[in-house]
Amino acid sequence: MFRQFFGLKYNPFGKEIDISDVYESEDMKELNSRFRYIQNIRGIFLLVGEPGMGKSTALRKFAAGLNPGLYKPCYFSLSTVTVMDFYRGLLISLGEEPSHKKVTMFHQIQQAIASLYYNQKITPVIMLDEVQLLSNSILEELRLLFNFKMDSENPFILILSGQSQIRNKLQLAVNAPLRQRIAVKYVMQGLKPEELPDYISTRLKAAGLHENIFTQTATEAIYSASKGTPRLVNSLATASLMYACSIKQKHIDEEIVYQGQRDIDV
Ligand SMILES: Nc1ncnc2c1ncn2[C@@H]1O[C@H](COP(=O)(O)OP(=O)(O)OP(=O)(O)O)[C@@H](O)[C@H]1O
Ligand SMILES: [Mg+2]
Repeated sequence: MFRQFFGLKYNPFGKEIDISDVYESEDMKELNSRFRYIQNIRGIFLLVGEPGMGKSTALRKFAAGLNPGLYKPCYFSLSTVTVMDFYRGLLISLGEEPSHKKVTMFHQIQQAIASLYYNQKITPVIMLDEVQLLSNSILEELRLLFNFKMDSENPFILILSGQSQIRNKLQLAVNAPLRQRIAVKYVMQGLKPEELPDYISTRLKAAGLHENIFTQTATEAIYSASKGTPRLVNSLATASLMYACSIKQKHIDEEIVYQGQRDIDV
């Protein structure tokens, strides 16, 4: 409904965003330079951020930008698969037939990674999302799984991505061996107040609306309610568009943001 009212091709703040439309925020730029670094040194990367900060989006973008002749991206989200499914899925994406025994799968994974890297000169890039769900024993298991040539080489890139509880888990003494092996870390900060007007107008433009219909005070209200978390910014902006449409107003001011927010507050 509101799409027609504002002349938008799609909801500019919807969930399905094309990789090419991902906003180049400070976070994305900082992350990019760290991703480039881990591509050089390989090993374990830790990506931490509160819900809705853009971690999975950043992983999607990173995977899409990798040269398939040099890297093999494998993405798994622990919110949808179990650890065993992850091992099995990893083997399948590495071109192996998974065994039924976990111990055998471990060897298979290690061999497949080593063969990809040493024989085919392709670096496996394994992205494990929602790692805050992992138990300490599984974290230890991961460390053993990604231990090559008596821990002297890294024929892989392993990106562990999750919400901030993972940092607390890694602080525990039992997880020190894994923590010490993390080569690069990044903590997502969210959109900065000065980035928000540009973020909003960029998303509007991508959806076909070239005029920024959000006033400065509306943007400020969105920032103060979202603290720059992209998912919250998106739902507030969508709610504002819907409310503005319901009262047939083309410009979105702070009052509309407030009324829109009331519709989505739970
Ligand atoms: N830089 C960006 N440009 C455009 N949209 C973004 C950007 N960052 C995040 N988003 C949008 O914000 C929403 C939340 O992002 P995402 O799902 O990546 O967060 P997350 O950190 O993985 O959250 P969770 O911890 O809940 O899994 C998505 O709909 C995504 O499209
Ligand atoms: Mg996510």
